[in-house]
Amino acid sequence: MSTTSAPAYSKLKMLYELYYGFFPNKPTFTPEDYPDLAGKTAVVTGCNTGIGLHVVEYLYKKNCNVIGVVRTESKGIAARDKIVKECPESKGSISIVGGCDFCDLSLIKDTGVKVKEILGDKPLSIIIHNAGLMASSNQLTSKQGYELMFQTNCLGPQLLQHFLDSLFLKKDSDLKRIVWVSSGAHLLGFKDYGINWEDPCFEKVSKNQRAHAAVLYGQSKTGNIYQANAWASKHKEIVEEIGCVSVSCYPGNLKTDLQRDWSRIGRWIGNRIFWDGNYGAYSELYGALYPGLSTKDQGVYIVPFGEIHDPREDVKAGLSNGTDLKFWDIVEEKISPFF
Ligand SMILES: NC(=O)c1ccc[n+]([C@@H]2O[C@H](COP(=O)([O-])OP(=O)(O)OC[C@H]3O[C@@H](n4cnc5c(N)ncnc54)[C@H](OP(=O)(O)O)[C@@H]3O)[C@@H](O)[C@H]2O)c1
Repeated sequence: MSTTSAPAYSKLKMLYELYYGFFPNKPTFTPEDYPDLAGKTAVVTGCNTGIGLHVVEYLYKKNCNVIGVVRTESKGIAARDKIVKECPESKGSISIVGGCDFCDLSLIKDTGVKVKEILGDKPLSIIIHNAGLMASSNQLTSKQGYELMFQTNCLGPQLLQHFLDSLFLKKDSDLKRIVWVSSGAHLLGFKDYGINWEDPCFEKVSKNQRAHAAVLYGQSKTGNIYQANAWASKHKEIVEEIGCVSVSCYPGNLKTDLQRDWSRIGRWIGNRIFWDGNYGAYSELYGALYPGLSTKDQGVYIVPFGEIHDPREDVKAGLSNGTDLKFWDIVEEKISPFF
């Protein structure tokens, strides 16, 4: 498959989707609509702050057992204690697994081991790959020498999913969902199917030859759209059998710590035009809980605050012509030394 034959995409449609991110329709599937989750377990990454924190709170309120995966254990525990104190009625639980820092792929196997220990023989129903990095700088590099947003947003989640597959791919629950958290910023990714195919990790050029940080973030978030669909295709038979649905999700334009390295003026503006973080949880939990999603919906792209739209036209085409699988395999090659 040639990556130079990517279909053109309409700038007008892109502008509409960017506009839509700021002025989305009202959410129609909100916490009052969520089912009781007693006996179900969810893994949520990056849940010490931002959208992930709200996601854990809503799941826990519905009696879910949540395994919160964070990089700094003390931050995860502080978040857990706050939620538990605020929701005394819940019959669920929140366990925190620390040390999952996607900056270093060699740490992720241990996260898989810890999740397995906590899960025991309970069914794993939901996985939300929420943790992510949007850096203002294009100069950041991981322990493995890869551009940091690509590693944090694509390599890390796919590696973690590798360790969760054996826990998740079982016929043990009537709810089986994976949400790969993407962004409307995927619209800003590279021209041909969103990815810098020759060198997505920017290993082969010096740092000052890297693309703009927004394009790098856009590339990584395009990757999440491909991962949602490719994961389902790679496990097609068992996924159909157990009724699992894997989707990507653009949670919204939200006031969270994601803008932590913006200038004061940038954050001041963001605080006035962005939505509160809990709205992002509505989008992610639409993917995780909405009863209308079925195995026919593999790889759909959910937009704020719980609707399905098409991603950028070339990325949409990439979901049906094998580009998503090509992306998955490129990532797999990078992460396989850490299996
Ligand atoms: N906010 C928005 O407007 C928006 C829009 C579109 C998409 N998203 C996506 O939504 C997701 C959640 O973002 P958010 O807005 O809630 O941001 P946030 O408040 O910054 O939270 C991000 C979470 O990811 C974790 N994280 C960052 N780098 C990590 C790494 N190297 N290894 C492990 N965990 C790491 C953070 O941990 P620490 O606290 O330890 O750094 C934090 O828990 C992200 O995937 C983001 O791309 C957000």
